Amino acid sequence: MKKAFLALTTLVLLASSAEARTWAEIKKSGTIKIATEGAFPPFNIMKGTQLTGFEVDLANILAKNLGLKVQWVTQPFDNLLIGLNQDRYDFVIASHGITAERAKAVDFASPHYCTGGAIVTKPGGPMNAAALKGKTVAVQVGTTYLTNVQKVPGVGSVKTFPKDTDAQAALMAGRVDAWVGDKFTGLDLVKAQKGKVVQGSLLFSERIAMAVKKGNSSLLKELNAALAKTLNNGQYAKLSTTYFGQDVRCK
Ligand code: ARG
Repeated sequence: MKKAFLALTTLVLLASSAEARTWAEIKKSGTIKIATEGAFPPFNIMKGTQLTGFEVDLANILAKNLGLKVQWVTQPFDNLLIGLNQDRYDFVIASHGITAERAKAVDFASPHYCTGGAIVTKPGGPMNAAALKGKTVAVQVGTTYLTNVQKVPGVGSVKTFPKDTDAQAALMAGRVDAWVGDKFTGLDLVKAQKGKVVQGSLLFSERIAMAVKKGNSSLLKELNAALAKTLNNGQYAKLSTTYFGQDVRCK
């Protein structure tokens, strides 16, 4: 808790340190610099040397619609918003849930998908919040999974991992009783593990959005307009169906 508070305090302090590129500056340069993690399938993931995933494809579409080339940057999840406030890139798309805490440090765009944090366990393991009592749960560090699992009354120990895939691996190796992660990621894991794990209930719901540096309203406006366009012209629906077999926009 203390650590998370310190990280956020640092973020808020860094927010005022330098000038983010405005929309006019980005447009003039012709290239937008976008950061993601690249380790969060199926949203942002490295396949060999290729950065791909629903969010990567979506951001590439947005940039194209805005007439820009893209320069991708990958960073550990925990560093993404800090780097944003240090002007290392123009925006972040990495499945950040919109939370009041984060909104103190950055500005969020309109949500680009809606989802939730779900429990995944081995058959016979804890399937809901009540069953997590006394259990060991794996989550990725710096995530809403961590903060929400910590709120579960009576939960045993919560183990954090630098990458979400490491938290999943801990479950597969039997080192924890459950893993809490994105519900769509969980569905993919269940499918890939062919019955070795099962998905339990949703612990919480969240709206996922891109983040710009606090106060970068000119860029935010363009990103929101570009997103609205893809939501209305069929590009989003097509992409979402390819990845999820359904439309994951917020309704
Ligand atoms: N949706 C969760 C959150 O807002 C997890 C995001 C993790 N993203 C990632 N690229 N690993 O914290």
